[in-house]
Amino acid sequence: MKELRVQPIKDGTVIDHIPPGNALKVLHILGMERNLPESVISIAINVKGKRGKKDIVKIENRELDTQEVNKIALIAPNATINIIRNYEVVEKHRVKVPDELVGIVKCGNPNCISNGREPVESRFIVKSREPLRIKCYYCEREPEDISSQII
Ligand SMILES: Nc1ncnc2c1ncn2[C@@H]1O[C@H](COP(=O)(O)OP(=O)(O)OP(=O)(O)O)[C@@H](O)[C@H]1O
Ligand SMILES: [Mg+2]
Ligand SMILES: [Zn+2]
Repeated sequence: MKELRVQPIKDGTVIDHIPPGNALKVLHILGMERNLPESVISIAINVKGKRGKKDIVKIENRELDTQEVNKIALIAPNATINIIRNYEVVEKHRVKVPDELVGIVKCGNPNCISNGREPVESRFIVKSREPLRIKCYYCEREPEDISSQII
């Protein structure tokens, strides 16, 4: 069977090796449903990769900042961020969950200082990466469903 191909992007970012079914969470992290750009975005869900099923997100004319990459790492720990320039992959980075998560996950404890009226940025210490376990620096609460608490 002839393979159907999506249009390649000239410049932009390919987020590859996303766990199957998580592409839409990645788009949510990037604020895409609030602010859909004019450029080409391709989403592949449940495609066959060398190591089983995966999702892929390709975004033209967009690069990711450190906070966005750190958020993606929380839901796609094996993702690669590929920078495309003039149709070629010019950089490839594997995401990495940092030792501390500052301002990227909301603490679920309503009495936590990070949810108070004074602006104190949320801060979590990463206790383990596989499985991912994090603990609030201020109140020590450990979120159960980290992906739903991403800011
Ligand atoms: N111009 C482009 N437009 C859209 N997608 C692209 C473009 N160039 C590469 N890609 C995609 O970017 C990803 C990384 O490309 P690369 O050529 O590095 O593949 P790879 O060797 O299979 O990488 P990996 O070992 O990380 O799986 C692939 O999903 C590929 O389809
Ligand atoms: Mg590949
Ligand atoms: Zn807390």
